[in-house]
Amino acid sequence: MVLMNGKNPLEVEISGLRLLNPTMLASGMLGLTSCMMREVARAGAGAIVTKSVGLKPRDGYKNPTVVQVRCGLINAMGLPNPGIRLFRAEIERLRDLDVPLIVSVYGFSPEEYVQVAWEACRAGADAVELNLSCPHVKGTGSEIGQDPDVVREVVREVKHRIDKPLIVKLSPNVTSISEVSRAAAEAGADALTAINTVKAMAIDIETARPILANRIGGLSGEAIKPIAVRCIYEIYEEVDVPIIGCGGISDWRDAVEFMLAGASAVQVGTAIAYKGLGIFKSITDGIKYYLEEKGYGCVGDIVGLAHQR
Ligand SMILES: Cc1cc2nc3c(=O)[nH]c(=O)nc-3n(C[C@H](O)[C@H](O)[C@H](O)COP(=O)(O)O)c2cc1C
Repeated sequence: MVLMNGKNPLEVEISGLRLLNPTMLASGMLGLTSCMMREVARAGAGAIVTKSVGLKPRDGYKNPTVVQVRCGLINAMGLPNPGIRLFRAEIERLRDLDVPLIVSVYGFSPEEYVQVAWEACRAGADAVELNLSCPHVKGTGSEIGQDPDVVREVVREVKHRIDKPLIVKLSPNVTSISEVSRAAAEAGADALTAINTVKAMAIDIETARPILANRIGGLSGEAIKPIAVRCIYEIYEEVDVPIIGCGGISDWRDAVEFMLAGASAVQVGTAIAYKGLGIFKSITDGIKYYLEEKGYGCVGDIVGLAHQR
């Protein structure tokens, strides 16, 4: 990696988390086993976010759980995961990982969020990402994340109980993402991830039935990129907390656009299915090329530039 004046231009620090480059694996993609997460780190991701994990094991929904549409995927997996007690072993196996490990957690009450987050930290998580935004499981995710008062309560409770950076992942399926971001920031969030998937569905015209077993799911991929950019732009205007951009990023130009809107780092999910793990390195190389071409010294120089009037 080329260093400018001894400093790596791609390095970012997000509330105590040091990333050698600003790309991260998004939650839900390849983040269930230590082997896969090591593979993603080896491919060049600057940090890893695990699949969301809860207090108890969950099977998730019956198939079909994912359908490909024109500009992305609609999924309703139903948060399948082994539960934190079993997942602890995967976290412990990654203690020597050379990039930060962020454990994504969900719960059906503030107490459950606290318990899972606490156990994740005890097992060795470098940070916790609260999933307040899954759009397709009753009683958690965006059902919690759409009410600013509940967001405030969950974030405050978890923040009190853990000593690692707390990231809050927000849903675009709300009337005002600014209002929700303010609630999370006031309650102590160290960073915000925006966005999770956008509520969506697909119907098979031959059978006249919804395709997903859960009928409604969340849209990801290129189709949601402009929604994510708008959300990041609005959050950046509202709060002074680092933002991690996510939603439809499929190349370095998308990543730069997210940064200009206000993101300090970016997460990549669906594009891995289309482009493979090489996407992390190609995004990182592209950002570096952009910084050099435009004469910027580091990633921080372009964060939020689109807000200058
Ligand atoms: C199959 C699948 C599973 C996902 N599982 C999770 C999850 O467990 N927790 C979470 O916070 N987000 C989950 N997501 C949402 C992604 O992390 C991301 O927010 C979203 O897909 C938008 O980014 P993308 O367009 O780069 O995929 C999932 C997405 C997909 C496609």
